[in-house]
Amino acid sequence: MGMSVSCSADALVPVARADELAAGRTKKFFLQCDGREVEAFVLNHGGSFFAYVNRCCHIPMTMDWVENQFLTEDERYIQCATHGALYEPDSGECVAGPPVGQCLTQVPLVVRDGVILARCPL
Ligand code: FES
Repeated sequence: MGMSVSCSADALVPVARADELAAGRTKKFFLQCDGREVEAFVLNHGGSFFAYVNRCCHIPMTMDWVENQFLTEDERYIQCATHGALYEPDSGECVAGPPVGQCLTQVPLVVRDGVILARCPL
């Protein structure tokens, strides 16, 4: 059987080194998805990596008023700076604020050889 050819939408893109993201740290990155640029961020939550599109579920705008500041001071939640919505870091579910019950768009990640790779969200 031949190798499957992955289309560009399925491509894994390196976005960070695992060792540059300590627990409680975040990093922004950009993906090219269907010819559009998607802004996203990856975070280390208790040693596990999660990534989301940088777009609040309340009003579709970016959540970091201060560049790359996505977490509450205690690093317990992702927080939208505009109206203070709080999201669970490991699921993206909003647990407080205007869009409660809605979820951030998760960006699929793979960690390979110490490198965090992301692919376009569906
Ligand atoms: S825009 Fe994020 S809480 Fe309103």
